[in-house]
Amino acid sequence: MTSLQWGGRFDAPPNTALLQFGSSLEDDLVLAPFDVRCSGAHVLSLREGGVISREAADALLSALERVSKEIESGAFGRFARDSNAEDVHGAIDARVRELAPESGELLHAGRSRNDQVATTLLLYCAARAERAKTLTLQIAAYLTQRAQTELGAGTMLAATTHWQPAQPVLLAFWLAAAAEPFVRDARRFARTAVDAMEKCPLGSGAVAGSSLPLDRGASATALAFAAPSRNAMDAIGNRDVACDLAYACVRTLNDASRISEELVLWCTPAFGYARLDDAASTGSSLMPQKRNPDPLELVRATSADLVGRFAGALGSMSGIALSYHRDLQVTKGAIISIVETALRALDAFALALSHVHFMRDRMSDQADRQFTVATDVADALIAQGATAREAHAAVGAQILAHEQDGALLEWPDARASIQGKRTAGSTNAEQVAISLEQLQSAIAELAQ
Ligand code: ARG
Repeated sequence: MTSLQWGGRFDAPPNTALLQFGSSLEDDLVLAPFDVRCSGAHVLSLREGGVISREAADALLSALERVSKEIESGAFGRFARDSNAEDVHGAIDARVRELAPESGELLHAGRSRNDQVATTLLLYCAARAERAKTLTLQIAAYLTQRAQTELGAGTMLAATTHWQPAQPVLLAFWLAAAAEPFVRDARRFARTAVDAMEKCPLGSGAVAGSSLPLDRGASATALAFAAPSRNAMDAIGNRDVACDLAYACVRTLNDASRISEELVLWCTPAFGYARLDDAASTGSSLMPQKRNPDPLELVRATSADLVGRFAGALGSMSGIALSYHRDLQVTKGAIISIVETALRALDAFALALSHVHFMRDRMSDQADRQFTVATDVADALIAQGATAREAHAAVGAQILAHEQDGALLEWPDARASIQGKRTAGSTNAEQVAISLEQLQSAIAELAQ
């Protein structure tokens, strides 16, 4: 049985190499469970519209049920690869026709792969956005919990800007700063999951809708979409949600990458602020002393790689006219690869984080080195009536005198500097405690 879904008007068989070039099977096999759901909903639409009989619908649904089991067991993957199907949709169609020889041919009535791809991709995006949301919330919750621990321990850190020592902060404050972006990422994923399920493209056909009396409401409801889409041409060419999800993934990896970069440096002997467990480190094949933070470096590079793939995904869409063009197959492949790679990298990032230990004494000890409390000294002068410029110049002069003549600096220590901060959102312990509570409720709210 041929897996190709076309060919009647062709005189000659397709060139095998070109058929292979056009195959998206390796990219879209991951969509198989979603296509089965989409196909099941289409059967309902055909049945409710009176296009196929109840018996035919039952036969199709039980064949799809069987395919679903074969997907889980891996048997379908082998079948699909052995078939000459152009994509997962053709492969499922072929398997259904094998399993239900009587009614299998009816499955594709009134649908095109164009509305099928669009619908399947939305179902995939909704599921992956939910998973990504859960994962980012777990990371945010974990960082918040580590922040609580470090708040209790009172660990201090010389915060940097431009990688130069800037001002003393609590390590808990840094950990909360690391958690915040993941809450925003989770919110982005949550919105994408909702957007994905807004409009159901199924029943849009190839571009113009169908002349068969499909019950589009029935299929939209069966798939848990809010409503059928409004315009068939737009529906089959719309990849907004897929691009939004890819963007959310790239953003999240970017957040993980920035934290990874900082931890990579903290793990160097020169910093000595952190240590990655053996379980998360790798050695050198040549230098016996090495302990390398590879997972964090890989997260960092994956982020950069995904930025490139995202540019590719948008680029592949940018020049195509409305409706479906085969370019969208490339868009789909790029987006799936971004999403799957991002989820794997985030899993690894979460795992690597759990293997990071902070060297509290060393870190706290460095917190007021290199004049990090200079701003507090200047602020104190301003509080006594100096202008900002005068205070800045006076403290600068004290540093110069210290460096040139060893003049003594009677400055507050790091702990006093931290406790002296009074603005909302600042690093003093009370403010950090408040921010952690707020973080926790934001996480709990999103997790619902
Ligand atoms: N493999 C194609 C894709 O993934 C399926 C759609 C093909 N549609 C078409 N009209 N040739 O986008």
